[in-house]
Amino acid sequence: MSAPPAGTEPITAADVARWRADTPGTQRRHHLNNAGAALPPRPVTDAVRTHLDLEAEIGGYEAAGAARASIDDAYRAIAGLLRCAPGNIAMTSSATASYAQALSVFEFTAGDVIVTTSADYLSNRLMFESLSARRGVRVLEAADLPSGGVDPESVAALVSAERPRLVAVTWVPTFGGLVQRVEDVGEVCVAAGVPYLVDGCQAVGQLDIDVTTVRCDFLAATARKFLRGPRGVGFLYVSDGALARDWHPLLVDMRGAKWPAPGGYALFDGARRFEQWEQSHALVLGMGAAARYALAAGVARTAARAHALAAELRARLANIPGVRALDRGERLSAIAAFECAGPDASVLVRALRERGVNTTAQTADENAVALQRLGASSLLRVSPHYYNDESDLDAIENALRELLTQ
Ligand SMILES: Cc1ncc(COP(=O)(O)O)c(C=O)c1O
Repeated sequence: MSAPPAGTEPITAADVARWRADTPGTQRRHHLNNAGAALPPRPVTDAVRTHLDLEAEIGGYEAAGAARASIDDAYRAIAGLLRCAPGNIAMTSSATASYAQALSVFEFTAGDVIVTTSADYLSNRLMFESLSARRGVRVLEAADLPSGGVDPESVAALVSAERPRLVAVTWVPTFGGLVQRVEDVGEVCVAAGVPYLVDGCQAVGQLDIDVTTVRCDFLAATARKFLRGPRGVGFLYVSDGALARDWHPLLVDMRGAKWPAPGGYALFDGARRFEQWEQSHALVLGMGAAARYALAAGVARTAARAHALAAELRARLANIPGVRALDRGERLSAIAAFECAGPDASVLVRALRERGVNTTAQTADENAVALQRLGASSLLRVSPHYYNDESDLDAIENALRELLTQ
């Protein structure tokens, strides 16, 4: 029998034990908040600390010079994760910063249309609201499929009727367990020649990605979620097509362009035109280490394990009296959302944390519209990753049962 291709071998108990040993936080907490910020493995924290120490020893600019090859490696690792070239990657401080840089490319004027979905991330949606209020942009939501998630045919109908300036889709929404059909929407955008912006914040590290099959112009992401990198760093993928059209952020800085003569500027090649000159090299190196760790673990197999753990959680927690699983969609992610009878979910999050279990909540205070659409007053988000194990699932099930039957 021939060996399975690298990265698709079945996961063994020894793999899980090794991943947990690499992750000191697993000894202290039942961390089921990977959609918030995952526990980083040791190579990530080592990379960050080593560079901060070097900066303290020899100086920040000098340390950047000394680490040049490792910084280049970080671009290569992120590009490897997306199956693109390093020149398509811009380092940023967050997914939101990436998204804002990409949005600023477009000269929106009154009446321009952005087509999005019912499950777009709140901060993205707030940017659209701001563009509406300040520039008169119209924001149109494509319809969902009856089973949940955006209907690509509805996107196609809106694109043909409205000729939008931009189509924007959140691949894996932050609450609600969905994986959207971004590839099908990409096909619509390519056929119509409409720019396409994907929020891949919860997808990177959770899904095995080939960004060329998504066919987006931009993909925004962050390090700290399923990629298991540090907080405060993210990246933006920029397609070859977008670069060839000289697309660049409205407020480009000296990392992105040079100044050959007054009255003009000349863009540098590659996605670096979306970066800002000042950035945390320690965090970039940490994100590079996280990407290498993900690639070595094998994203296809770790994704399958994370999704299986989330499916088990949905089944186990929905069996507790008063708990309702909210996730809908043909394809579900590693994010599981529940409505729990009784106290607001934020109270449950605090009580679970006291019992060593990490989760998060969404309350009406933060996003009333999303909760209304789900028909829930608040929701508890539980997001396992591949390094979680049965002890983590047992811990949340037991704690929730105890809290809800008190
Ligand atoms: C789907 C999605 N997009 C974007 C973001 C924002 O990421 P960041 O805080 O790194 O800007 C989040 C954060 O939770 C998210 O879940």
